[in-house]
Amino acid sequence: MPLVPAHALRAESSAVQPTSAQDDTALQEAMSVLQKGHRGIKKRMGDLVVNQSALLEILSGMESATLRAMGKTPYGPEGLSEKDNALFLVAYRQEMAKLLVQILALQQATWQGDAQAFEAAYTELGSIKKAGHAVSRDF
Ligand code: HEM
Repeated sequence: MPLVPAHALRAESSAVQPTSAQDDTALQEAMSVLQKGHRGIKKRMGDLVVNQSALLEILSGMESATLRAMGKTPYGPEGLSEKDNALFLVAYRQEMAKLLVQILALQQATWQGDAQAFEAAYTELGSIKKAGHAVSRDF
């Protein structure tokens, strides 16, 4: 099932308009935690044993940031019908939920020292980031 209706994908505007400036700042702050975390785990994933506590701390921060972001309600571009805007929000939350699942998988892999599982979840994280931004920006 497509994340967003095809006619909405053809909308011309790429701007995301959050409900308020405050929401916008909070979303940006959460994304900035995710960005730093993403880099931080990349740097440390070569040794899950030595870096275990640092990784768990980073991942815990990413988990909270994802939950904060999930609670935001960025609007789709101007001109969407109420229904399409609601669908946009559902797609946004679904991507956030997928992100959370992978962050939890990364935590589990770290606890278990499972490098293969960590790498798989890390790769998936990158794809979800891409898909999430595509939903938010190209809608
Ligand atoms: C590891 C995963 C992710 C990373 C590292 C990441 C990183 C970022 C960064 C660096 C920004 C720019 C923030 C700014 O303007 O100051 C951003 C913006 C944004 N991201 Fe993410 N992101 C991730 C996942 C997601 C997901 C899954 C979604 C949607 C479900 C999402 C939705 C957004 C939105 C709505 C914005 C703000 C609006 C925009 O600039 O278009 N992000 N993200």
